[in-house]
Amino acid sequence: MEKLVIRGGQPLQGSLPISASKNAALPLMAASLLAPGVTRLGNIPRLRDITTFSHVLRIAGAEVTRSGDGLEVDASRIFFPEAPYELVKKMRASFYMLGALLGRCGKARVSLPGGCAWGPRPVNLHIDGIKALGASIDLDEGYVVASSPGGRLDGGTFKLDPSSVGATVNILLAASTARGGSRIENAAIEPDVVVCCEMLQAMGARLGGVGTRTIEVEGVPLLRPAAFSNCPDRIELGTFMIAAAIAGIPGETVTLTRAHPGHLGEDFMEAFRQTGADCDIGANTVSVTAPEELTSVSITTGIYPGFPTDLQAQWSVLLACCPGTGSVTDTVYGDRFNHIPELARMGVRAQVSGNRVVVKGGTQLKGARVMSTDLRASVSLVLAGMVASGTTHVGRIYHLDRGYEKLEDKLSACGIDIRRERYDEFATPQRPDP
Ligand code: UD1
Repeated sequence: MEKLVIRGGQPLQGSLPISASKNAALPLMAASLLAPGVTRLGNIPRLRDITTFSHVLRIAGAEVTRSGDGLEVDASRIFFPEAPYELVKKMRASFYMLGALLGRCGKARVSLPGGCAWGPRPVNLHIDGIKALGASIDLDEGYVVASSPGGRLDGGTFKLDPSSVGATVNILLAASTARGGSRIENAAIEPDVVVCCEMLQAMGARLGGVGTRTIEVEGVPLLRPAAFSNCPDRIELGTFMIAAAIAGIPGETVTLTRAHPGHLGEDFMEAFRQTGADCDIGANTVSVTAPEELTSVSITTGIYPGFPTDLQAQWSVLLACCPGTGSVTDTVYGDRFNHIPELARMGVRAQVSGNRVVVKGGTQLKGARVMSTDLRASVSLVLAGMVASGTTHVGRIYHLDRGYEKLEDKLSACGIDIRRERYDEFATPQRPDP
């Protein structure tokens, strides 16, 4: 296995480029199945989740190849409309195959994803939404088996409650090629959804209300391949803004380039400014200047444009670096606190109760051996390692590799002492010689 070894206390300096968005790339890859022919996707990150999802597309019959900074997806022949358990359990977004395969082939057999590292993550809205479009759905040996009578869905109206990114994308994919019109109410308006709609429009889909809570879809028989470029990763941007605030030299600016600052949402920006960190927004850049002392700011996550749940673990580390007490309340995923016991091993004083964690800041963190439990939890441990005294070993970084491209290269280019090492997690510790 691999781990990251961080010698803390080195300041973050200079500029960091933001990679392409993982969460936006996955719906685009799924959408490319709707068009027979070769779709060219630009700006697709080199990440484990992209490799996994490429494999999911290949199983269905697509040919997926790397091309420059992006991917070429040849979906001329989609002959096996199935997404197997072995891949869906690794990556829940593979469930996008339900909408994509129904939209393209009129049938799909997709494994249910099962549990997730931080508790239940239901897919009831995906299934009910697709049913509302006229699909018949059965459960067979853990697989959702869906088909459209006559080969094409009728279309229909569905209201999401709560609003869900994944369900909005899945319903959109299925509805784009339906016989009739569809309406998604309380649709997600996350940039990932908007970007997916824009790609579908470039492929010939007829959509109205893009970027609003009500999306109207007028089905077309088939979409055509398109060339489309993905957006930068807003969660990576938020992560590096937090890194600059806690590990930057007070008064000196760290610049994040190739970013799309507008995608972060106002709640995050507002909370970030309240910490006292200075934040200068350009068209594609965010320049962060750390203050002498950060101010603790409590946050509550919410659906877009609320504070992203994918940034709450990192925010807890920021709170640990502020004098005073602050809290993180997660209203999207109430159990997402696996990082807290690991951070406690580094001296973070935090108490979880229900969907809230209260963090008492102001003490120097100390390096320790800690373990990644999920993607965003992992990066919060790296952030803590950067500001801790001594050395931190972050194990099981395969979680991190799912969603942060070249993290250690980017951070070490900016002054952080971080390296990747192999290790044997099951090695038995040896007694020292007397
Ligand atoms: C996406 C992101 C994930 C992020 C999450 C919330 C991807 C690949 N993943 O996940 O990184 O943390 O958005 O911003 O883009 N819900 C239901 N039933 C459903 C579906 C969702 O009740 O069928 C609930 C969830 O439990 C949650 C809320 O809806 O409380 C929002 O979840 P959703 O937007 O669906 O998250 P994902 O698309 O799975």
